[in-house]
Amino acid sequence: MNKSVLLLCSTFLISGCASETVTTVETFKPGLGEIMSLTAMRHAKLWFAGQAENWALAAYELDELKEGIEDAEIFHPTHKHLKTAPMKSLIAATMENPVAALDKAIAAKNLIEFNKQYDQLTAGCNACHQMADFGFNVNVVTRPNFNPFANQNFSAH
Ligand code: HEC
Repeated sequence: MNKSVLLLCSTFLISGCASETVTTVETFKPGLGEIMSLTAMRHAKLWFAGQAENWALAAYELDELKEGIEDAEIFHPTHKHLKTAPMKSLIAATMENPVAALDKAIAAKNLIEFNKQYDQLTAGCNACHQMADFGFNVNVVTRPNFNPFANQNFSAH
């Protein structure tokens, strides 16, 4: 930085240089589509971790999934696709119970219960997509048909 720029910056420190930086940071937020794509990845990894009875990995993936859902609430309390209710109440209605039940199934290392609650979680995803203006045949979440993560050993534990 040469002397004149430095002088300009220090003269306009509060209204100029500094506030520009703050604005850039504040406007960088993940889109709901991005958060959901990661949520879909966690949802798939959670399944394969559970099937491998790698409960530590399953617990980790469920935790990451929860954090993604929390980000959806923080960054998108309302959204153009959410016409019926705000994010917070849709999450409470669709995610809270299955996530808590999955937590228990994982802690108990119970595969049968895990599979049952995994389907409940998946039903919760679809319930929200239906209550949002984004459901029915457009965006249907299922148990994954095959494992696309060729570079991860899910049974390592
Ligand atoms: C609180 C409501 C809500 C919940 C719960 C929810 N979704 Fe979504 N989902 C949405 C909305 C709204 C969109 C559309 C986002 C957009 O338009 O940017 C979406 C989009 C998606 C997409 C499309 C993203 C893309 O860019 O291709 C996927 C995949 C997805 N969700 C998966 C899931 C999975 C898996 C779960 C459950 C673990 C889940 N969603 C739970 C509301 C929800």
